[in-house]
Amino acid sequence: MSSLEQFNKFYSLETDGFYESSLLDFYDTIVSKKVKTSARVLDIGPGSKSIFEDTSVDKTLITAIDFSDRALDLAAKNSSIKFILGDISKREDLPNESFDLIFDSHCLHCITDLQDRKNAFANIYQLLNVGGLLAAEMMVQKSRMPVNMPYKHVPDAFDLEKEILDSGFKIEYFMIGRGLSFSNAHGECDVLRVVCRK
Ligand SMILES: C[S@@+](CC[C@H](N)C(=O)[O-])C[C@H]1O[C@@H](n2cnc3c(N)ncnc32)[C@H](O)[C@@H]1O
Repeated sequence: MSSLEQFNKFYSLETDGFYESSLLDFYDTIVSKKVKTSARVLDIGPGSKSIFEDTSVDKTLITAIDFSDRALDLAAKNSSIKFILGDISKREDLPNESFDLIFDSHCLHCITDLQDRKNAFANIYQLLNVGGLLAAEMMVQKSRMPVNMPYKHVPDAFDLEKEILDSGFKIEYFMIGRGLSFSNAHGECDVLRVVCRK
């Protein structure tokens, strides 16, 4: 089953929108301090509910992109956010506008193919205004201990840092852990919070 099929299957079983609460905490405690209130925002991988439903950011400034139509059916219900059905690694799916903040709602660690990841980072870089920010919460290995999670890319932190720098970004904030971790039946890994600037 492809990643898209897996997400569509998952969201077809859901009836209410939800998001991981750590994403809202990351935005509130770290990211919001670094952006102006008029910032145009792209939320990538909002799933069935964008965290920006629950921030004070003006909804007319927000666009969200997700490749799962099942997720977006839920997310768009009663929402004034602009949703786009598309794959962040495909140039032809990208919105025709630029942004001051691109917020990764746990989408990037779901892109496992290395060329797709390269394309996704390049697309994000291209969509940002000069001086704009990419903020992401991503999975990383615990102390260089490989973990194999289906449909997830869990690199070593050094490799992830290199991937971000190779995409042209300058890293402003890079924090692993602080009581956060991802775990499932396949294992456990750390959480990296990163904010980087174009
Ligand atoms: C782990 S879920 C997170 C959803 C939600 N933000 C949350 O906190 O529950 C990842 C989301 O990214 C979307 N996604 C995965 N790969 C994508 C891609 N290449 N382009 C766009 N969306 C993608 C999935 O459809 C899914 O909604």
